[in-house]
Amino acid sequence: MAKISVIGAGNVGATTVQRLAELEPDEIVMTDIVEGLPQGKALDLMQAGAINGYDTQVTGTNDYADIAGSNLVIITAGIARKPGMSREDLIKTNSKIIGDVASNIAKYAPDSIVMNVTNPLDIITYVAMKATGFEPKKVFGMSGVLDAGRFASFIAEELNCSKKDVEAMVIGGHGDLMVPLPQYTTVSGVPLPELIPDETIVRLVERTVNGGAEIIELLKQGSAFYAPSAAIVRMAEAVLKDSKRILPASAYLEGQYGQEGIYFGVPVKLGAKGIEKILELKLEESQCEILRKSSETIRRGISQLKI
Ligand code: LAC
Repeated sequence: MAKISVIGAGNVGATTVQRLAELEPDEIVMTDIVEGLPQGKALDLMQAGAINGYDTQVTGTNDYADIAGSNLVIITAGIARKPGMSREDLIKTNSKIIGDVASNIAKYAPDSIVMNVTNPLDIITYVAMKATGFEPKKVFGMSGVLDAGRFASFIAEELNCSKKDVEAMVIGGHGDLMVPLPQYTTVSGVPLPELIPDETIVRLVERTVNGGAEIIELLKQGSAFYAPSAAIVRMAEAVLKDSKRILPASAYLEGQYGQEGIYFGVPVKLGAKGIEKILELKLEESQCEILRKSSETIRRGISQLKI
């Protein structure tokens, strides 16, 4: 009985809808401000259902009223980075867009859980929480699952082993100061530092931190969307199935990790009510230091906003 709405029919939004449709929720609504774009993509995805074998009702619309009754709303709207830009360069434009999107979510889907994907991730998730007026645990951001996926992919490549056996953890802001955690990353239960020398781990951590930018440089326009949409769907499933998965998410902190009043990437328990618990990990001093710097970037971004 699930209804999911995806705001934004660009690469991330449309690929997310495609992956979600294959899981056969009852209904997916895709909205965009561009007339015809969500309608055209929805029609294409409905026809794909006849070939792929899914019966999900996919609707494209320019009218927010159509998101009414959604269990989960996923925000992918806004502009993406261009080569050389940091995620923080997007604050002004995207906070305006998402402020408006969030007011409409509050109006038409007041009982939904909200997942934000728009960058700069932790700051825009804060904007979404404030503009919906929802309880903080009902609003979260997707970033750590993506960053951990990138880290896991590089580890599997390095070890020449299956990606299926790698469980990685990345916390902190979704920016140049994210913190991959080798000590909480395992390959079939074996801690990473037992398998890979420190200097190689440092190289893989650096590539993870620059993972989004590496793709933007290659694409020249737009940013990654296959791995981001895969990460969105993993989190969406946890909410829709109330599966209480332990995943990294951008969650509102109220004292955890020494932080208060910001959204920050941390391991959480994710279920039908949103963020059900925040897990606090013991960290090395150097990791705490990067987290502090990362949190300052987020605070600076929030202070630029007029909310
Ligand atoms: C990335 C962008 C989407 O990390 O933030 O690819």
